[in-house]
Amino acid sequence: MAGTGDRGTPEAYDATPYLPSRGGLPAHRKAAAECRGCPLHRDATGTVFGRGDPGARLMLVGEQPGDQEDREGVPFVGPAGRLLHRALAEAGIDEKDLYVTNAVKHFKFTRDETRKRRIHKAPSPRETLACRPWLMAELRLVSPELIVVLGATAGRALLGPSFRVGTDRGVPRPLPDAEDGTRVLATVHPSAVLRAQDRREMYAGLVADLRTAADAL
Ligand code: URA
Repeated sequence: MAGTGDRGTPEAYDATPYLPSRGGLPAHRKAAAECRGCPLHRDATGTVFGRGDPGARLMLVGEQPGDQEDREGVPFVGPAGRLLHRALAEAGIDEKDLYVTNAVKHFKFTRDETRKRRIHKAPSPRETLACRPWLMAELRLVSPELIVVLGATAGRALLGPSFRVGTDRGVPRPLPDAEDGTRVLATVHPSAVLRAQDRREMYAGLVADLRTAADAL
């Protein structure tokens, strides 16, 4: 079985053994709380599973929970989340119609001991792949018409390792291997907007992409 407990033996990173064989989102959320499919559970407070309308036509996928999301157990409640909520409102998207989740369900960080802060660290491709079964289960259970991927990690999780936000954003396209016509549209991650020098321009781009998503439904 995949696991992280046996130090000294090679670890398989894979959430699959932790997925319930049946049940809806509540059963999956409960099972995900016990996931040990990769080492990220060791330092995080808990699993941050997706939230929102279980029948949403539009699903948003971010990278991983941040510091605040880790403490509250809810995706996109920190600074990036606040920016995202503003952008969604400007794009005319009502949040009660959304399902929001992350490609990776645990917060990965390093510690800044001087300032007693936890600093976000991007999940590795191996950790992202290990967590993918949860994302695929959410996709199957919610069955959205359109998925908006926010940034590179989410884009690679659903569109493969050659995905690049710069070249692949803003256009709805078929989700690879989806038999039900699900489409996916990529845009920048709200944290990238917060970090950008040309913040206004990047924010406008995010809103424009979200408008395209709303129009595509
Ligand atoms: N960034 C993400 O990608 N997801 C969150 O939930 C918060 C910040």
